[in-house]
Amino acid sequence: MQDNNKNEILITDEDALKYEAAMRYMLAKLDLINTGLSDELGRKAASNISGRVKSIESIKNKLRRKNRKITGKNVHDVIKDIAGVRAVCFFVDDLYKFHEQLTYHSDITILKVKDYIKKPKKSGYRSLHLICRLDMPFAGQMLHTTVEIQLRTNAMDYWAELDNQLRYKKENESSTQIGKKLKSYADEISSIDKKMMKLRNRISQL
Ligand code: GTP
Ligand code: MG
Repeated sequence: MQDNNKNEILITDEDALKYEAAMRYMLAKLDLINTGLSDELGRKAASNISGRVKSIESIKNKLRRKNRKITGKNVHDVIKDIAGVRAVCFFVDDLYKFHEQLTYHSDITILKVKDYIKKPKKSGYRSLHLICRLDMPFAGQMLHTTVEIQLRTNAMDYWAELDNQLRYKKENESSTQIGKKLKSYADEISSIDKKMMKLRNRISQL
């Protein structure tokens, strides 16, 4: 993958393969954790687990947004979510259980926890983000790759997806109005998440 302006290779094919391998390795881990947790809980913990490797266009856009030069070094130093995975859970406490389980894996080092549930973003966005280092054997050597794990509920996921879809329209003159609406809907969705958890606890005591 190449930056056409300067002809600099931003991500070599080899690096792209490494990020892809790290993403798949982490997906397998999340899948295993989900199996274990679901067994323990007697119900499904995560409804969906997915992953992606960030496209070169979106890497370049992010560097521009962060006012950083588009160089191969910055790609690796600045962008922490080239490999990204996401587990979408039914309940808020389930996603914290996912977080706890991840700490028991010796090949994962959690470098940074961004808890946008306890402290939502101004937009209303909620999710738990973990920036991790993954140490894994690949092609005869040890790989040390940064992977972003996003943990969220179905409700948070629904809001984030719609926010993404509607975001481009936020740029026009009614942007603050739209932003305010989206924020208030995020708060409503979050209160439903809490009510559902309370209801689940009441039912489990019956
Ligand atoms: P990004 O440039 O947004 O990736 O920011 P960052 O690398 O500083 O990390 P941050 O934790 O703020 O956000 C990382 C990811 O969270 C984004 O790529 C999105 O997937 C998601 N995200 C963050 N804020 C929002 C938001 O306001 N709305 C939606 N829909 N998603 C968001
Ligand atoms: Mg991102």
